[in-house]
Amino acid sequence: MAELRVPDVRLRRSYLAAISEFAAEGCGAPGDRSNTARQIRTWSGIWESEDGFSTFVEELRAESDPLRARPHGLVTSTTWWWVEGEEYLGRIALRHHLNEELLEIAGHIGYEVRPSARRRGNATAMLAALLPLVRAVGIDAVLITCDVTNVGSRRVIQANGGLLEDERHGKLRFWIPRAPGPADSTSVCYDLPATACLLQRAPSLE
Ligand SMILES: CC(C)(COP(=O)(O)OP(=O)(O)OC[C@H]1O[C@@H](n2cnc3c(N)ncnc32)[C@H](O)[C@@H]1OP(=O)(O)O)[C@@H](O)C(=O)NCCC(=O)NCCS
Repeated sequence: MAELRVPDVRLRRSYLAAISEFAAEGCGAPGDRSNTARQIRTWSGIWESEDGFSTFVEELRAESDPLRARPHGLVTSTTWWWVEGEEYLGRIALRHHLNEELLEIAGHIGYEVRPSARRRGNATAMLAALLPLVRAVGIDAVLITCDVTNVGSRRVIQANGGLLEDERHGKLRFWIPRAPGPADSTSVCYDLPATACLLQRAPSLE
């Protein structure tokens, strides 16, 4: 059974095999603004080595640190990988709050499933697994958006209780009104920062 896991260097082979699948379907081409495309442009030639992949995973995990300096416009976000056994199936990322652009266009959550793992319920299950964690960083209602043409993603969001608010800039904007889960981080992780708590609650390979 697949589950959310903290990004882990031991999944390097499987992760890179998934990236090859994304690249084969055109991901990473100039103008592609998807998360995976950005990763391909940044890390190709680096993450193939053990050391390079380790740096990539370290950077990815550091995005979850609210105290970390980040370029203007980027907010704290936590990424989990959706993994079955030792196989990487996809990723899902939670942005801890919305800025103006995220409120208009991208929302709180982004996800992708590798091409060979699609149409098997993975995105629906991955989003369902993440929703109980979002209130730990103080999010009550969750905004998720998808391209107007993205039938698969629309179904994933609606299967998880997403209610359509409107369409802006070619994106459908859905709200999941009240995410399940603990009301605040302190109730589940005492004096730990919320993000550390989130990472701890997702099982790792250890
Ligand atoms: C969109 C995406 C995440 C769906 O992942 P998935 O694991 O295949 O989704 P699921 O298997 O959970 O499918 C959910 C529903 O959508 C349907 N669906 C999935 N892909 C579809 C497609 N391309 N066309 C039509 N329906 C589709 C499934 O049949 C299923 O329908 P059901 O609820 O009636 O059974 C995946 O195709 C993907 O990663 N695409 C590229 C990145 C992307 O679009 N990310 C989302 C950005 S908002």
